[in-house]
Amino acid sequence: MSDLLEVQGLTKIFAGAGTFWSRRAPTYAVEDVSVRLGKGETLAVVGESGSGKTTLGRCVLRLIEPTEGKVIFEGTDILPLRGGELKGFRRKAQMVFQDPQGSLDPRMRAASIVAQPIKHHEGLTGSELEGRVLEALRAVGLGASDLPKYPHEMSGGQQQRVAIARAIAIRPDLLVLDEPTSALDASIQGQIIALLAELRDVYEMSYLFISHDLRLVRAHSDRTAVMYKGRLVELGATEDVFRNSRHPYMRLLEELIPTVPANPLAPAAAAFLMDDDSDRPEAGCVFRNRCPAAAAGCESHQYLIPEGGGHRAACRRHTEEGFDREWEHLLEDTLRGR
Ligand SMILES: Nc1ncnc2c1ncn2[C@@H]1O[C@H](COP(=O)(O)OP(=O)(O)O)[C@@H](O)[C@H]1O
Ligand code: SF4
Ligand SMILES: [Mg+2]
Repeated sequence: MSDLLEVQGLTKIFAGAGTFWSRRAPTYAVEDVSVRLGKGETLAVVGESGSGKTTLGRCVLRLIEPTEGKVIFEGTDILPLRGGELKGFRRKAQMVFQDPQGSLDPRMRAASIVAQPIKHHEGLTGSELEGRVLEALRAVGLGASDLPKYPHEMSGGQQQRVAIARAIAIRPDLLVLDEPTSALDASIQGQIIALLAELRDVYEMSYLFISHDLRLVRAHSDRTAVMYKGRLVELGATEDVFRNSRHPYMRLLEELIPTVPANPLAPAAAAFLMDDDSDRPEAGCVFRNRCPAAAAGCESHQYLIPEGGGHRAACRRHTEEGFDREWEHLLEDTLRGR
């Protein structure tokens, strides 16, 4: 599969806010992340809140400027692009946000919302423009009767359909989907996910699918990238990552996936992960302040992950003989003690 997108060593540091006296430390929202996305592929990015998923997605689309690294789209680094070249890139790469209500202008009708990118990028007017707007709305399961509606006249699911119509109206090659269903009722989530899956195939798009819902990710992505405190800690084909997760952080996340019968360790795993106010280590493994398996050597482990297409984990211990058995005990002890 040829690459549509290649992210190389991407870093985004947010400067600490405040005055000289009260200045907070800078936030390493994304640090040294390298991933590739093939044409027609869905790459999921998972991790808990604050792990850097949204920042990565925004940097990829240049909605914010990375501090370091490269974002290569169809062979061209997009970070130095300006003017017409940047506009050309924006036509090919669009974003769908988590909260449709917040991402749609409340004063605009559905027709105008969807027309905006077509006018901006293709300069269409009149009946040609109307035809394309209707085509985009139909593609997302809406119709002519929805054209005059304002966002507040629509349900959350319909609003997200309008947001998706706006994103696909100019027929992009890449969609960054930032938790596209997490603001919706559970009953609607499945419909929107099914719609996105269908559109990907019809329009031959690639998806960067940001989500913390591991069940959705497993069912709807080809490869999965796991982030923790801005770092990529595991990367591989989705089935490999889920069936044979290698990084202790991903193994803890997996405990949260609902099962029948219910996993008795799930509540303790959720509490363990929620309680994470640990400092981000300046060097060594980024998970070592929380990791039940941390041992001598983890404090100096360098864990750059240059992706080679295979399954990779940023844990120096996961290949150790007997580590899987040791992990079972560590997990039980850590979670049962809570
Ligand atoms: N504009 C910003 N200014 C300062 N810090 C930010 C900004 N955006 C995100 N961050 C911080 O960067 C880290 C990663 O955030 P984010 O990318 O939103 O994570 P996620 O999407 O995984 O929840 C968090 O610590 C967050 O507080
Ligand atoms: S490198 Fe060490 S601290 Fe980091 S995940 Fe592996 S065992 Fe845990
Ligand atoms: Mg986010």
